[in-house]
Amino acid sequence: MSADTTDRPRVLISRRVFPQVIERLSASLTLDVHDSDEALSPAALRARLADCDGVFVATTERIDAALLDACPRLRAVCSMAVGYNNIDLPACTARGVLVSNAPDVLTETTADFGFALLLATARRVTESEHYLRAGRWRHWSVDLFAGQDVHGSTLGILGMGRIGQAVARRGVLGFGMQLIYHNRSRLPADTEAALGARWVDKDTLMAEADHLVIVVPYTPETHHLVGAAELSRMKPGATLVNIARGGVVDDAALAQALREGPLAAAGLDVFEGEPSVHPGLLAAANVVLTPHIASASLRTRMAMANLAADNLLAFFSGATPPTALNPEVLQHPR
Ligand code: DGY
Repeated sequence: MSADTTDRPRVLISRRVFPQVIERLSASLTLDVHDSDEALSPAALRARLADCDGVFVATTERIDAALLDACPRLRAVCSMAVGYNNIDLPACTARGVLVSNAPDVLTETTADFGFALLLATARRVTESEHYLRAGRWRHWSVDLFAGQDVHGSTLGILGMGRIGQAVARRGVLGFGMQLIYHNRSRLPADTEAALGARWVDKDTLMAEADHLVIVVPYTPETHHLVGAAELSRMKPGATLVNIARGGVVDDAALAQALREGPLAAAGLDVFEGEPSVHPGLLAAANVVLTPHIASASLRTRMAMANLAADNLLAFFSGATPPTALNPEVLQHPR
């Protein structure tokens, strides 16, 4: 005889995820699975959430006050991403809706990719590969695709959270780089000392970095944190890597700086308005472009999805979700 599932919490899985994760969740929750990589439109998301107690999201589903008001049954929003700029956290907290994200499990994988982009950008890996594949390689040449050295250069990090520090470790310990960083709050003195890290203001960071890696969360305060003025301060021949979020960098200004200098090259995994990419970036040879995959090793994406599932399962069993962003809402269960 099958168990009565009528009073189980009902949860929307808002996009395609690994079957193993669906299986874990469906053991104790009633699922409505949108089994597609195409994000639901805001109207479809609202309609599907109307009779749901929880939702599993990633980076693109917008959870805002209007949606929460239209879906008063919703009590938990669990994301498999670490960045949660798509979720209005204060609006959720005000309505007693639990929110969780997926920190830590993706830190090292994302830092690996940041470094891969840094190396590919500085040493012109994709640009030279395109040249070779196009059949244009005729002879060895003294300055063919001569790029910028990474080892021994100055690494600038904008946003020194977990991922920023993991990128910094790679640069300092693996490549003998000097490290400068800018962050709202400084690292503890012993962490700074261990990395030889020097806190600088943003203008100094832009002016002194040979290679700038951007890893800040996207918030109203960090919108266009790097725009034309900041880019104009960079050293001739410097490179820029963005693994944070589209919108932190002004992509139009970046395309211009790549065309006219001082930047030598950029490596970008995130874009304003992605999956659209600014035509000036698409047209530039000196930019490495990847489709928001910094955390995409199979093991890490599985860990991220499982962490979102852990949070949902904990919440609906009355336990504390492991990576809740607003655990205070648990004090006043709805
Ligand atoms: C995150 O976790 O925020 C990543 O950008 C998702 O790929």
